[in-house]
Amino acid sequence: MKTSSFPASIAWTCASLAAAASISLLGGCKDSGASSNADGSKKLTIGFSQVGAESDWRVAETKSIKDEAAARGAELKFSDAQGKAENQIAAIRSFIAQGVDAIILAPKVGTGWEPVLKEAKAANIPVILVDRGITVEDPSLYVTLIASDFVAEGRMAAEWLAKKTDGKAQIIELEGSPGADPAIERKKGFADGIAAHPDMQIIASQSGDFETGKGKQVTETLLQQHGDKVTVVYAHNDNMALGAIEAIKAAGKKPGTDILVVSIDGVKSAFDAMVAGELNATVECSPLLGPAAFDAIEKTLAGETLEKKTVVADRLFDQSTAAEELPNRKY
Ligand code: AHR
Repeated sequence: MKTSSFPASIAWTCASLAAAASISLLGGCKDSGASSNADGSKKLTIGFSQVGAESDWRVAETKSIKDEAAARGAELKFSDAQGKAENQIAAIRSFIAQGVDAIILAPKVGTGWEPVLKEAKAANIPVILVDRGITVEDPSLYVTLIASDFVAEGRMAAEWLAKKTDGKAQIIELEGSPGADPAIERKKGFADGIAAHPDMQIIASQSGDFETGKGKQVTETLLQQHGDKVTVVYAHNDNMALGAIEAIKAAGKKPGTDILVVSIDGVKSAFDAMVAGELNATVECSPLLGPAAFDAIEKTLAGETLEKKTVVADRLFDQSTAAEELPNRKY
């Protein structure tokens, strides 16, 4: 779907500026007090509101955006919200007050953003969403979303599992943070994927907040409650799966053999766990969103109209491909 780009007046002004000046990073309509780059181009100031550092994936995403800012000579104002959406809202307000040129937002949850995004729009500051989507009545409140298809990821995990188990599984599901796009959509995709297999059942489902420690804790509790029935753990991310692996071992069982473990993200430690035979499969979800986010900023400030969503392609890896792929992993 095409959508009109962020405020046309800003886009026009930036396009004129870009045409008039020799600048390596396009745009930069606001005076945020930033200086010039070595080549005389204006240094952009970008605010990045990050959810936190709950997972290896999240840490890799932060690094990707910081690295890309440095590579393009932009000043990055970084805010770690420590898992709280209200901290993200405060960070966005602070970016607006500082007059940044654009804002990158990786939102904790899907709702509650309208008031602050209206403030950004009123200040003519374009907002680029990375990784997770939001629900807003007015789609012009953000320029574009760069993210994976989380429903497809959940479905991929389910289809792999159906094949592996011949359609028979008693599953514990470790959900991501409540209200987060990937938690909602990975749950849906997985449910869709097992729907055609009546002997695949989710016997318990609980949030582990995308964290290793909570994944372990929740798995311990669920294993105590459901004991020998459990044949599979499906985790909405690798870190919770790694926690589950510890809990399975503590319960005297062999992860990857007695209880199969399937997850999403494709971080290095998940590949190590597959090589060790303890994780069975992971669906890659790339956190390396920095280059695409900065391309989007450049384009919108230059007056280009962007697609409302750019979907990042994902693939599934299992133990049969893990060792070969491990040296190629970038996060
Ligand atoms: O939004 C992406 C998810 O958030 C990743 O799967 C997870 O690891 C992260 O914390």
